Amino acid sequence: MSRLFVVSNRVAIPDPGSKAAAGGLAVAVNAALKGRSGVWFGWSGNIAEEPSAEPTITRKGKLTYAVIDLKDADFQEYYNGFANRVLWPILHYRVDLAEFQRSDLSGYFRVNEIFADHVSKTVAKDDVVWVHDYHMMPVARYLRARGHTNRIGFFLHIPMPPPELIQALPRHAEVIGALSYYDLVGFQTATDRDNFGRYLETLGATAIDDDGLYQIGNRQVRIGAFPVSIETDAFARRARHATRTAYIKSFRESLGSRKLILGVDRLDYSKGIPQRLEAYETLLRTAPEWHDRMTFVQITPKSRTQVPEYAEMDRFISTKAGQINGLYGDVAWTPLRYVNKTYSRSALAGFYRAANVGLVTPLRDGMNLVAKEFVAAQDPEDPGVLVLSQFAGAAPELSNGALIVNPHEIEGMAMALRRALEMPLDERRARHARMMAVVMQNDIDAWARLFLEALEPPKPPSARSSAT
Ligand code: F6P
Repeated sequence: MSRLFVVSNRVAIPDPGSKAAAGGLAVAVNAALKGRSGVWFGWSGNIAEEPSAEPTITRKGKLTYAVIDLKDADFQEYYNGFANRVLWPILHYRVDLAEFQRSDLSGYFRVNEIFADHVSKTVAKDDVVWVHDYHMMPVARYLRARGHTNRIGFFLHIPMPPPELIQALPRHAEVIGALSYYDLVGFQTATDRDNFGRYLETLGATAIDDDGLYQIGNRQVRIGAFPVSIETDAFARRARHATRTAYIKSFRESLGSRKLILGVDRLDYSKGIPQRLEAYETLLRTAPEWHDRMTFVQITPKSRTQVPEYAEMDRFISTKAGQINGLYGDVAWTPLRYVNKTYSRSALAGFYRAANVGLVTPLRDGMNLVAKEFVAAQDPEDPGVLVLSQFAGAAPELSNGALIVNPHEIEGMAMALRRALEMPLDERRARHARMMAVVMQNDIDAWARLFLEALEPPKPPSARSSAT
């Protein structure tokens, strides 16, 4: 088995003492690296005046973690600027929020080239390279320019909008079009894949088979949908165990006999938190019989705090949460607990299992692994109900059991919330069983295996005919 060389902005170096929740990308990359020898290269998360020319190396078994620091200007232009104020909003269909500056785009290209230079120095001839997410789209172009002929794959963890929105991005052909330098580009859903296929055609590419292979200039790129997932079995076990901990027991006791509605999202405008709070407010206004019989816990760790749109969202949501409690709360009942802390995966697993309703209502989301984790964590004998946005990448897989909502329709969300709270046990069990079957089958190992198999070099015609 060839070595896997992973490149991503963030690198999750194992730290047994860390309580930080591992993001979806970290869980996914760890699954891909499991049982292989590999390198994971990326940003250390630190800023330095003069970053060292050599990455900092940590070795764990067959894996090598290599990270570099960034200069403050690189961090501002590449991460805060182009990646998070231009690419993030546009790829989440929010062209209105994009703040484009030429200097940020230069910073983005510069940092991608720094990454590619480091990879170029250490990648072996037969390593399989796998680049992740919107921060790193041009890496393959730079590696090809440096003569590397390795198999190089890319996976986009966030949505890919239709070409008409991509075209709002200045110099989109050099950024999004740079994905055509990979051998395989993976997306979360068939919609994302098809949007990108149509975009490639606007750049002059032609489809050359029915399986996502395109010819563009003298290159060929295959595109595919590979819905990312979780370690379903391990997460279910973690949830069962967490329920028995004193911490989760005392949390459950703090709710009394009230039903628990739970939301878990990074603080981000793509997550639809204001609309969700409005839906809860609508339920409080229209269903007084539910007062003091439910508690909504919204866990929202802050992120990208230096980006102005995030700071604004932070103020807005805190104010809204205070208003809801002021208007509907009582001395002995807080209808909404709004928490900005980060919790360990074990604590989250325990919260999910304790919840009667999981509210996952992004305005747009690549996948949303909270939805899958919520399903995996439930007690199959007495499961909670998932209320899921039609715009989460998880919706096509989980629409067989979730209550699917449009996050732009507040009254519809409030009605779904009420239906979830009042759903009979038989219906809850049946819905949960259908979703659980999907997340058991499409788990994170299946995702990594399918992507890496699709990235293997095409079989020579003789091998193909003898195999059939
Ligand atoms: O794909 C989106 C993503 O990279 C996730 O892996 C993670 O949840 C989030 O964005 C992390 O954002 P940041 O690295 O900016 O904190």
